[in-house]
Amino acid sequence: MYDANKIIPGLVIFVGLMTFPIWAGMGKAEPVPKPKIDTPVIKEMAEKHCVESKNYMADYHMQMLITWRDKALRDGKRIYVSSSGQKYNVSLQNTCMKCHSNKKEFCDKCHNYVGVKPYCWDCHIEPIEPKGNVL
Ligand code: HEC
Ligand code: HEC
Ligand code: HEC
Repeated sequence: MYDANKIIPGLVIFVGLMTFPIWAGMGKAEPVPKPKIDTPVIKEMAEKHCVESKNYMADYHMQMLITWRDKALRDGKRIYVSSSGQKYNVSLQNTCMKCHSNKKEFCDKCHNYVGVKPYCWDCHIEPIEPKGNVL
């Protein structure tokens, strides 16, 4: 007969020890980035909001951009109506990057952290950013 009272705590300790390097590394490794939104255009906004809610944008901006592109190029639909009824021009450069003109401190911060490298900038022009932290 085995004694569950000993085996289960034993297992918990074993799993804890085995995974120690993983969770001990959390927090020490590069902290999750906080993308900066202190750009000139966003500073001017009375209410600081994105095209859709922050959480929606964080989770779905990739899909949104692809849908924007397809709608603009295939259906000629160049106006996006947000869930709050606000209208935006469908444009990566002139809409997203007008507010988020700090690509390096915003888009790149997250992307470097998760290791994605969107190829959009092969063709689309990146915002021109001053060198250093002048923004
Ligand atoms: C091979 C070059 C190329 C690449 C790479 C590329 N695009 Fe484009 N994209 C274009 C061209 C050309 C247009 C058409 C411009 C127009 O008619 O306004 C366009 C239009 C768009 C539009 C709609 C209009 C506008 O001004 O923004 C969106 C949104 C867009 N692309 C998003 C993206 C995203 C997101 C990526 C990366 C995942 C990407 N594109 C990668 C060439 C490219
Ligand atoms: C009118 C200015 C404006 C436009 C246009 C805009 N954004 Fe935003 N964006 C913001 C602001 C302000 C926030 C922060 C919102 C908050 O804190 O509630 C934000 C938040 C975000 C976030 C979430 C950041 C985080 O910390 O989780 C992403 C991702 C994002 N935007 C991507 C985009 C993309 C992609 C586009 C174009 C499709 C775009 N934004 C267009 C102003 C804008
Ligand atoms: C809050 C963090 C965050 C911010 C800010 C952010 N992204 Fe992303 N982005 C991600 C993550 C995470 C992925 C990978 C999603 C996946 O693979 O499902 C991604 C993927 C993408 C992709 C698809 C790339 C691919 O190869 O699949 C595009 C295009 C993109 N982001 C554009 C932008 C643009 C443009 C901005 C700045 C306006 C931006 N993102 C800001 C987190 C962010």
